Amino acid sequence: MNLVTNHHLGTVILFKCEKQQLKRLSARKGKIALLTTEPPDKHDRLLAGAFLFERRRREVKKCLLVGMVLTLFISLAGVTGCVEARPPAEEAAPAEEETVCIDTSLRSLAQVHNMQVGAAVQAGLLATNPRYAETLRCEFSMLVPENAMKFEHVHPGRDRYDFSTADAIVDFAEANGMQVRGHTLVWHSQLPDWLTEGNWTRDELIKILQEHIMTVVGHYQGRIVAWDVVNEAVDDGGSLRDTFWLQGIGEDYIKLAFCWAHEADPEALLFYNDYGGEGLEPKSDTIYELIQSLLDEGVPIHGVGLQMHLSLDSYPKAQDVATNLNRLSVLGLEAHITEMDVRIQQPVTEEKLNEQAYVYRDILQVCLSAQNCKAFVLWGVTDRYSWIPLFFPGYQAALIFDENCDPKPAYYALTDVLAGH
Ligand code: G3I
Repeated sequence: MNLVTNHHLGTVILFKCEKQQLKRLSARKGKIALLTTEPPDKHDRLLAGAFLFERRRREVKKCLLVGMVLTLFISLAGVTGCVEARPPAEEAAPAEEETVCIDTSLRSLAQVHNMQVGAAVQAGLLATNPRYAETLRCEFSMLVPENAMKFEHVHPGRDRYDFSTADAIVDFAEANGMQVRGHTLVWHSQLPDWLTEGNWTRDELIKILQEHIMTVVGHYQGRIVAWDVVNEAVDDGGSLRDTFWLQGIGEDYIKLAFCWAHEADPEALLFYNDYGGEGLEPKSDTIYELIQSLLDEGVPIHGVGLQMHLSLDSYPKAQDVATNLNRLSVLGLEAHITEMDVRIQQPVTEEKLNEQAYVYRDILQVCLSAQNCKAFVLWGVTDRYSWIPLFFPGYQAALIFDENCDPKPAYYALTDVLAGH
């Protein structure tokens, strides 16, 4: 039997328990301060202090116990931290072994709400980094290939498909009872050169896209709960984005894509997915109108993905996200938070990490309260492998697990919301 807990596994040494609990408590303390509109008086402070002290005592005790068991286990298993283990082949996490995770993980807490908590994953890390794999297995109930299902990866030649990397992710998910979101069938980015450098007629492009969608969705038929069929078709000003697909096929490419995906897997939920249209702004209005007109035409579309790539510098008002979710629900649509992260400008401070925790908490709270919001997916697991530093120089620490796969205040904010605290 393989005994693992979520974040603790691998680097838990007993003294670390104390440190982690203190971090957790300082996040809570911050919350108490923020919830109070008036400056706390002496009585408030005493009450909060007594409450925190009692929790701290219980938690440290629990943590020490878990730590002792884990330390024993770790010394037998030789598990490492968030850094890739070497050599990969020998240390790959065995998916078949029975796994016991702590019952306060995101995954088990979310189950009570009938909600999926997910993360975007990189197949290479699943195979080479046991702690990464264990964190996924214990904490998440839904996976999304971060890049492996994109056009350039699965369809590298005109008549050549390569599903090996994406298959590894789907296999891992199934072996661990997790759902898979498919990402993504039609996007303007990560297209292969053979496609973008070709000189295609409209009919040829229609044929290529149809074949692509039928083949990829067909390959995974019955195994993908929801597909991001069309990704980011609206630009930041609220017009249809001027893309390779719009130029080559015209705006019909959107409805055609949904129809082909539905034909290939009638059971899969089909989503339109975008960023920057989460609250109430011109872009979310355009997305709403686009989807409404597709539905009026009878196009099979079942949901909208709110990517939720946020920054501490700017994030939507929770109330606006709630209103947006509600109007989608009135259209009969499901919604998923599909790619959440909250980037922080350097230097990363404890204060900023606590503020980040509130942003995560608010969005999860909104999703939990909306009757159509069924999945809450993060765009990555650990800050170590996040796309943020590469794409937003000067920003980092956008996820809920730090560089060592240890939980951050944002993690505890999410578990607190799910536990109803
Ligand atoms: O695999 C190569 C590697 O061989 C090379 O050494 C390295 C050098 O930079 O690049 C690697 O490829 C990178 C790939 O990510 C894997 O890390 C690409 O350059 C890089 O462009 C690619 O970025 C991805 C990005 O989409 C592309 O636009 C990010 O990982 C991925 O997180 C990001 O995901 C998108 C969603 O699909 C849609 N929504 C927005 C989101 C964030 O941009």
